[in-house]
Amino acid sequence: MLRVVVLISGGGSNLLALLERCRDPDFPVRVVAVGADRDAPGLAHADAFGVPSFTVPYAAHPTREAWGDALVGAVAASASDVVVLSGLMRLLPARAVDALPPTLNTHPAFLPEFPGAHAVRDALAAGATRTGASVIVVDHGCDSGPVLAQERVAVLPGDTEASLHARIKPVERRLLGDVLAALADGRVRLAPVPA
Ligand code: GRF
Repeated sequence: MLRVVVLISGGGSNLLALLERCRDPDFPVRVVAVGADRDAPGLAHADAFGVPSFTVPYAAHPTREAWGDALVGAVAASASDVVVLSGLMRLLPARAVDALPPTLNTHPAFLPEFPGAHAVRDALAAGATRTGASVIVVDHGCDSGPVLAQERVAVLPGDTEASLHARIKPVERRLLGDVLAALADGRVRLAPVPA
């Protein structure tokens, strides 16, 4: 069983999908804790599923590094195999990336296209006719780590940021679940993050 800690900042709809998939006894993954950098609405999903949760408020720490160190400590308490960033809207300090278990990020674009916090908006602004979803390994950059899975999603005429994002998220959820299952089964192995 792959033990996963999920980190969020927002509504956590992708977290909810993962928690629901973990109900399947044949899915070899369990969410052992959910953490957030703020009072995120998605923490309620952890409560609903009886999964422990924690908050490491970014604003309560003097520096990004201090916040990252506190986050590492909170994650360590759950003895997880993998950390998943699922809408955590903070760049992890390099020291935290190095200290955490292997960390994955889901991203609503076909990386390396449209990295950053506004990937869906940026794809629309660029006039792209297709974008996508990616699951990557977190490295020291912003959405720059190795791609583990990705899939194209068409941009449709009249799409808004909300409508396009709503079509991308189910793809993100499926890819994330499939990657976690492959890690659990040993079909995929993660190389150490380069310094
Ligand atoms: C997802 O698209 C994720 O890839 C991005 O933020 C969104 C999180 O959505 N970083 P939700 O909070 O799971 O609804």
